[in-house]
Formats: sequence, C-alpha cells, structure tokens
Amino acid sequence: MKVSPRILIAFALAATAIASTAQQAAVPVAPPSPGAAAAAAAAQPALAPQSTPTQTPTAPASVAPAAVGKPDAALGNQKYDAVCASCHGAAGNSGTPANPKLAQQHPAYIIKQLQEFKTAKRPSPIMQGFAAQLTEQDMVNIAAYLGAQKQKPGFAKDKELVALGERIYRGGILNRNVASCAGCHSPNGAGIPAQYPRLSGQHADYTAAQLVAFRDGARKNSPQMTAIATKLNDREIRAVSDYIAGLR
Ligand code: HEC
Ligand code: HEC
Repeated sequence: MKVSPRILIAFALAATAIASTAQQAAVPVAPPSPGAAAAAAAAQPALAPQSTPTQTPTAPASVAPAAVGKPDAALGNQKYDAVCASCHGAAGNSGTPANPKLAQQHPAYIIKQLQEFKTAKRPSPIMQGFAAQLTEQDMVNIAAYLGAQKQKPGFAKDKELVALGERIYRGGILNRNVASCAGCHSPNGAGIPAQYPRLSGQHADYTAAQLVAFRDGARKNSPQMTAIATKLNDREIRAVSDYIAGLR
C-alpha cells in the first residue's frame, strides 16, 4: 500500500505530540501520577518505524481475550492522550476531516476496529502500527474512555446534496434494494450498541472514504456494509455522508 505525504506528516505530528505529551505527563497534574509518565514513556516505542509491520500467523499472547480485566477509563485516558490524541483530537473530537471523531462511539465497536487494524482484517497503513502497540486491556480501557466522552456535533455543508442524503439515510433506495441507514444506525445516527456504530456528527470526508472503501473492497470487515455500499454511486455517497455530518 502507498503511504501518502499526508500520512507521513500525520506521523510526524503524532511523534511531536507524543514527545510533548511525555513532557507534560512528567509535570504533576492533580494527583501526581508516576503512572502517567510511565505510560507516556511506554508509548515511545510506538515511534519505531512501523510502515511494514510483520504479521505472524500465530496470534500474540496479548490478543487472548481471557486475560482482560475490567475497563479502566482513567488508564485509557492516559494512553489515549499519549498516543492517539494528536490525530483523533482532545477527548476524541478530531478536527481533521480524514481522522475520525471517536468521542461517544460505542466501546464494543472501537475494540472491534482496533483488533481488526492490529490483524489487518481492516487494513490501514496508519492505524495498524498504532493498534499493534496496544494490548487487549489497553483497547478495552481506551474504548471505555472514548465511549464516555461527549462528541462535538458537526454540520452538513452541501445545500444541494443534503436533501438527497436525508432521503437515503431515512428511506434507503427502494428500487435498488438499499436498506435505510436509519434502520440499523438509528434515526438520529447514534447507532445501537453493541452492533451498530454511531455515525452522526462524523466528518463527511471520513464517512465517504469508508463507504468507498467498503464498496471497493479495501475495507472488508463488514459484509452488511459491503452489500450496501456496493449499490451506492459517488454522488449518493457524498450526499449521505454530508447529511450524516450534520445529523444529531
Ligand atoms: C497518525 C494519526 C493517527 C494516530 C496517532 C492514531 N490514529 Fe486512529 N485513525 C487514524 C486514521 C487516518 C483513521 C482512519 C483509517 C481508515 O481509513 O480506515 C483512524 C481510525 C481509527 C479508528 C476507527 C474509527 C471508526 O470509526 O471506525 C479507531 C477506533 C482509532 N483510529 C483509534 C485510535 C487509537 C486508540 C489510537 C491510539 C492508540 C489511534 N487511533 C492513533 C489516524 C490515527
Ligand atoms: C443491516 C444493517 C446496516 C445498514 C442498513 C447500514 N449499516 Fe452501516 N454499518 C453496519 C454495521 C454492522 C457496521 C459496523 C461495521 C464494522 O463492524 O466494522 C456499519 C458501519 C458503517 C460505517 C463505518 C463507520 C465508521 O466509523 O467507520 C459507515 C460509514 C456506515 N455504516 C454507513 C452506513 C450508511 C450511509 C448506510 C445507509 C446507506 C448504512 N450504513 C446502512 C450496519 C448497517
């Protein structure tokens, strides 16, 4: 897979952010937590070049779900701030259209995506390296933290397309057997835990990129979504993605 200059810049930004977070973590914020500094320090190896992670067929021991304890959102918060916030924004409210907002997303969905990035079932040259650094417990902790954050709402931008987007979202496309998005993702786009992810308020660029990826087979981790996206043309994808951005 090609790594675009934008991705390289994102990596560089992430690296800078991790470095500065590590410094901040050493400054005692109430209550002074040596754990935070340790977590940030532990995050440093994430900087090692990860562009071609080797995936052995035998799963690493850390993937075994049996070893996972209760979610610890405070630890998840520390890890998130040290490794993820540079791209996904403070408290999961990414301001960058290509990087999804994660705030208020259902924990089960986040864990599934992180596991699938790690094993490349959902291929992403950016996310595979970061997910590979996480233990199953880290994933559970981060997901608990993000699920409890409040999403900053977005807005639709394309006045011409948004009406088409709303029709597709609410009613599907009857003559092509496209089910309504609302049927699974709920009328207000909040999703239905644990099966159907939250969509509302997401950056339209990210949503459209995912629908294209499902359609083109680049993202193969949901047969349901592949079946739906295969029937959407570019204009419909842009329209429904724009509508979703403003949905609340
Ligand atoms: C260098 C920037 C960057 C960093 C750092 C980063 N991500 Fe991501 N993340 C992305 C991008 C870009 C995507 C979209 C990937 C795609 O196209 O499928 C993404 C996707 C995701 C998704 C899928 C969201 C969804 O709605 O399906 C999750 C979950 C996620 N990241 C969690 C994390 C976590 C947790 C960390 C820290 C351990 C992290 N990310 C670090 C850039 C980043
Ligand atoms: C039959 C149920 C169903 C319907 C109908 C449905 N979806 Fe989904 N959708 C899902 C499931 C399940 C997932 C989670 C996929 C996964 O686990 O990776 C999903 C994921 C998505 C994602 C990825 C979210 C992210 O954060 O990366 C997008 C975007 C999406 N759906 C858009 C739509 C749109 C737009 C429609 C209507 C045209 C729609 N969906 C209709 C079940 C459905």
